[in-house]
Amino acid sequence: MEKIAFFDAKPYDRVWFDKLNRDFEIRYFESKLRPESVQLAEGCRAVCAFVNDDIGSATVNSLAKLGVEIIAMRCAGYNNVSLEAASGKMKVVRVPAYSPYSVAEHAMGMILMLNRKLHKAYIRTRDFNFSLNGLVGFDMHGKTAGVIGTGKIGRAFIDICRGFGMNVIANDPYPDTGSGINYVTSEELFRQSDIISLHCPLTNDTHHIINERSLSLMKPESLLVNTSRGSLIDSEALLAALNEKRIGGAALDVYEEETDLFYNDNSTKIVTDEVLSLLVSRPNVLITSHQAYLTREALQSIAATTLESLGDFFSGKPLKYEIKRS
Ligand code: NAI
Repeated sequence: MEKIAFFDAKPYDRVWFDKLNRDFEIRYFESKLRPESVQLAEGCRAVCAFVNDDIGSATVNSLAKLGVEIIAMRCAGYNNVSLEAASGKMKVVRVPAYSPYSVAEHAMGMILMLNRKLHKAYIRTRDFNFSLNGLVGFDMHGKTAGVIGTGKIGRAFIDICRGFGMNVIANDPYPDTGSGINYVTSEELFRQSDIISLHCPLTNDTHHIINERSLSLMKPESLLVNTSRGSLIDSEALLAALNEKRIGGAALDVYEEETDLFYNDNSTKIVTDEVLSLLVSRPNVLITSHQAYLTREALQSIAATTLESLGDFFSGKPLKYEIKRS
C-alpha cells in the first residue's frame, strides 16, 4: 500500500479521509510541513499538506531527496507552495472547488455578527445584561456590497448579498461578462461600498491590496471582511484605520501572520504579536481562525477530491487538479 504523509492533521481532517480511504496507508502528523519536519515523510511517495505549511523551495528540495513525487494540497489556495522548486521534481495537486458556499456563508455570517454586534449581545445576555446600548447596526437591504474577486466563492457571496436586497458591485481583472455582475474600478468599489468582501487569491498583485490608500478611500462606516488570505490586508494599516475611525469594523477569518497561531490553542501562551493583540481587543473587530471552509460538506469533498487525485497519480492517470508553474 502506498504511504501518504499527512501534515498538520487535526481530528476533523481525519474523519472523512478515514471514511473514504481504501487504497493508502495514511500517516497522520500533527506537525506542519516545513523544512524541520520534512523527514517525517520518509518512506512516502506522497505528502498531503494544508494552507499554513511552509512548502517553499527548501521543503520541496528536501521532499524530492526523500523520494516524494506528489504534493496533494487539501485546499484551494497554493500561495504557500513553491511551484518553481517543484517544477520537474514532483507534481502538485489541489482541491480547486469543494464548497464555495461554506466560505461565502461564513463571510456573510461574520458581517451579520459584526454589523448587528451579536458577539457583544451573546456575551451580555449570558450575564443577564439586557441593555441595548451600543448595539445599533444598519440595514443591509439597499446597501452596497463590494466584492473583490468574482470566482466561485465571490459569486456565491454575491448571490447571498442579492438575497439580502443589496446592490452589488465587483472588481476582478478577469470580469465574467454576461454574468450580470456590475464591475467597477477598485477605486470606485472602495469609495461606494458599505461592506467589502475579499475573494481573490493571494498573488504578487493582490498582496496588501487593502493598504493605507485603499482604506483611505472607504466609507467611515464600511465593514471589511476577509475570508481569503491574510496578506491581502496590510494589518498595521488596518489597525491605524480602525483606531482613527476611518472604517466601521473588520471581520477577519485570516491574518497575515497566522501561521504559528491559527488552528492552535494559544490560550495559555503569551502571544507577542502586538498587531493581532490590538485587533483582537477592538470591539469592532471579529476574528475567526481560518474556519470559513469548515463544514461537513466541504471536508467530505476535500477528502474525496484529494484521494481521487492520489489514486489517479499512482495509477498513472492524468491529474485533473494539477497546478503548474505559470
Ligand atoms: P477562484 O479561482 O474561483 O476565484 C478567484 C477570483 O479572483 C478569480 O475570478 C480571479 O480572476 C480573481 N482575481 C485574481 N486576481 C485578482 C485581483 N488582483 N483583483 C480582483 N480579483 C482577482 O477562487 P475561489 O475558489 O473563489 O477562492 C478564492 C480564494 O478564497 C482562494 O484563493 C483562497 O485564498 C480563499 N479561500 C479561503 C478559505 C477559507 O477557509 N478561509 C477556503 C477556500 C478558499
